[in-house]
Amino acid sequence: MCGIVGYVGPKPVVPVIMEGLRRLEYRGYDSAGIALADGYGDLSVYRAPGKLRNLEALVAGMPLTGSYGLGHTRWATHGRPTEGNAHPHRDCSGSLVVVHNGIVENYLTLKRDLQDKEHIFVTETDTEIIAHLIEQEFLDADDVPGSSAPLPLEEAVRRAVRKLKGAFAIGVLSAHDPGKLVAARNGPPAVIGFGNGEYFLASDIPGILHHTRNIAFLQDGDVAVLTPAGVQFSDFEGNALSRPPQYVSWDAAQAEKEGYPHFMLKEIYEQPRAVRDTIRGRLSMTTGQVSLPDLKLSEEELLKIQRVVIASCGTSWHASLVAKFMIERLARLPVEVDYASEFRYRKPILGKTDLGILVSQSGETADTLAAQAEMIAHAMPTLAVCNVIGSAIPRRALGSISTNAGPEIGVASTKAFTAQLAALFLFSVYLAQIRNTLSSEECYRLLSALGELPNQIDAVLRSAAPVCERLAKEFYGAEDSLFLGRGIHYPIALEGALKLKEISYIHAEGYPAGEMKHGPNALIDETLPVVCVATKDPNDPESVLKYEKTLSNIQEVTARNGRVIAVACENDQEISRLVEHVIFIPSTVEALLPILEVVPLQLFAYYIAVERGCDVDQPRNLAKSVTVE
Ligand code: F6R
Repeated sequence: MCGIVGYVGPKPVVPVIMEGLRRLEYRGYDSAGIALADGYGDLSVYRAPGKLRNLEALVAGMPLTGSYGLGHTRWATHGRPTEGNAHPHRDCSGSLVVVHNGIVENYLTLKRDLQDKEHIFVTETDTEIIAHLIEQEFLDADDVPGSSAPLPLEEAVRRAVRKLKGAFAIGVLSAHDPGKLVAARNGPPAVIGFGNGEYFLASDIPGILHHTRNIAFLQDGDVAVLTPAGVQFSDFEGNALSRPPQYVSWDAAQAEKEGYPHFMLKEIYEQPRAVRDTIRGRLSMTTGQVSLPDLKLSEEELLKIQRVVIASCGTSWHASLVAKFMIERLARLPVEVDYASEFRYRKPILGKTDLGILVSQSGETADTLAAQAEMIAHAMPTLAVCNVIGSAIPRRALGSISTNAGPEIGVASTKAFTAQLAALFLFSVYLAQIRNTLSSEECYRLLSALGELPNQIDAVLRSAAPVCERLAKEFYGAEDSLFLGRGIHYPIALEGALKLKEISYIHAEGYPAGEMKHGPNALIDETLPVVCVATKDPNDPESVLKYEKTLSNIQEVTARNGRVIAVACENDQEISRLVEHVIFIPSTVEALLPILEVVPLQLFAYYIAVERGCDVDQPRNLAKSVTVE
């Protein structure tokens, strides 16, 4: 997730782009850059690592002029957040620049082809490929005998984007075809603003709303050409399209949240995209294989590992507990999970044949950093599963798996959590493949299920949101609550309880379902909401057995007049007969059920917090990034 702003018009270009980027900084803030073109199309580029203020400081006082331009604020997915990796990216000749939001899946193949044609790459990004691909289209067109008319920029862009696999919204400027800004979209959002004799490109409405409310939305497969004379739309084949502007009446704050009342709700709804971007380019259904290019641990090194030790905090700790079940079940490797804040105080017994995994959304959590230091001191290889490339934890780790959820603004983690689970699942299958612990049929079944997951999350959002909203109206007055689950579903009970307590301030506890009879049953009365995760993979006998045991635990609660809200799989008639309320989710393989189960629990917590009038995005006493021990 990155922010793009482009401008063609009579105003001074730099302030228009800088202000737009500032309003889009919530989309990414690890580096920023701007490209300006003069009347002849000559380009100048300025870039700075870190927040936008670093770019502002860089250009402050420079006599920058330009007739049109492009800016970008980055959230790294490929390549560290350095100045060199910041957008805009150039081609070999330096006469063409590209800004990009998204992920190019086939960038390694394209890069090799272009290197064969003597293109030289200077960054670690997938975006640089796009600049060189477009440049190559110009070169190829020049080679056509008898072609006198130069290739228009938009045609070069169309030919290039037809070769891209993955997700992209791009903006392109070129000295070959001055006076034009070309945009193309396949996946990530892009909007075009229509002002009075001026035109804007942005990856989101807030970037341009202070200039115009007349906005056209690029669709997947669209190309737009912005010139001082207006905007023309076409598809990737060059067929003209009509994209009339619509009047947007949102205020600036609403626009930043894309119309959602809170960032948390927006981020809950971004989960299909977050999971899709996390698995994108990492699994191949043709080969049935997982590939993790940033892992930086060879198969030989991984085969020497005899135990996995995971350290993390809060929601990331819950993702780590799920990972324990995934890795042990799929790759048959023992896993220990620690609270990072407790790790070094138990004098852990560690060694070179242990792999340390640090799971952290922010990559800056002090407790997790301290646990990582302890692991490194014991000569353990460490692997970061992190949402912020270039943050402290992946920087210190030997290898990493990025979760491409994009920036999370709401303090309560939602999309970063589901992206962590998707990344940890990929790692578990990868380990299983090299350790030969799964048949190729089983791998295929697991990876197909992962491919289905983003659409299934989408389905849960559509079906569960109204149910959770209704349940919240019934239960928002509760003072205490319990969340139960068994096996891999127990960490989801913990996560459901954490979400509820942190944003609604209702006391909530997560428990293994089978532990109730050892004490907590004493709490049950007719006022206590008990949320039970009772799902199953019908094709997995172990999963079915666990489910049946959980049903018995649920009956122990209903027998004591507890008010049960169950999360169960569609078509589960049995559970509907047993309990007062059921939230249904689709079924999938056991190891992926947690990703679907957590979505209604996030929504339940969200709607309860709204009913109670709580500050959902900034709950009391909490901070997004906890940098003290
Ligand atoms: C809760 C939440 C926190 C974080 C924890 C660790 O919703 O977000 O519990 O998970 O503070 O943070 P990271 O993952 O950044 O290390």
